[in-house]
Amino acid sequence: MKAVTVRTLRDMKREKQRFSCVTAYDASFARVAEAAGIETLLVGDSLGMVLQGHPTTLPVTIADMCYHTASVSRAVSRPLVIADMPFMSYGSQADALENASRLMRAGAHMVKMEGGAWLSGSVRALTERGVPVCGHLGLTPQSVNSFGGWIVQGRDPADAQRILTDAAELEDAGAAMLVLECVPRTLAAEISACVDIPVIGIGAGGATDAQVLVMHDLLGMNARPPRFVRNFLTDGGSIHGALEAYAKAVRDGSFPAPEHGFD
Ligand code: KIV
Repeated sequence: MKAVTVRTLRDMKREKQRFSCVTAYDASFARVAEAAGIETLLVGDSLGMVLQGHPTTLPVTIADMCYHTASVSRAVSRPLVIADMPFMSYGSQADALENASRLMRAGAHMVKMEGGAWLSGSVRALTERGVPVCGHLGLTPQSVNSFGGWIVQGRDPADAQRILTDAAELEDAGAAMLVLECVPRTLAAEISACVDIPVIGIGAGGATDAQVLVMHDLLGMNARPPRFVRNFLTDGGSIHGALEAYAKAVRDGSFPAPEHGFD
């Protein structure tokens, strides 16, 4: 099967074909996700919470991310592998270049960074040097302390405008993709329509170009799942079946349902 690239995903957006993304942190889960037809794998810094048991993603290091990115990337050949830049690994442009290089050498095809317009310089520098970048806006988990909790972002009109402007600036700087997390569905729909790059939603309603979920959430392993999660293991019957059911539901638009989004 042909490898999924940034071009594949852009074409899918243009042709209005939704694609799916799931987090993967190791070779075994990555292989099952690939076999289930998932187009993109995110080596998320959510591993700090899911694998390491921390209350936030902040303790995750670049060494952790390189280890898990290498484990995932050596196991698969079709999905595009996106690796998260962890907290404070891209505070300056020099750090962004150094740490993105480490992730790309570990096997990532794209790096993801949380933040808006302030990241434009780093996004441009990375893009010019051949590193595709995915932006991440809305409820960016590395800023949970600044937000004062896991709170939906962009409900206030001024915040919504800022997120919209951030999305446009990241695209201008060369970002190849965007993740929008926990924003009102109308804002996500507006951003997805305004930018040409694919937008992956999580808790952002059904109008984005793609969806992402944390693997362990969609397998029902979270005792207190957020509202935007659906347990696909119940219908799927096995890990492979759950991932296939997730990919199909994203493709046909039945996930996310209205109850998974925010107003
Ligand atoms: O770290 C992660 O898993 C993420 C997704 C939930 C978007 O950033």
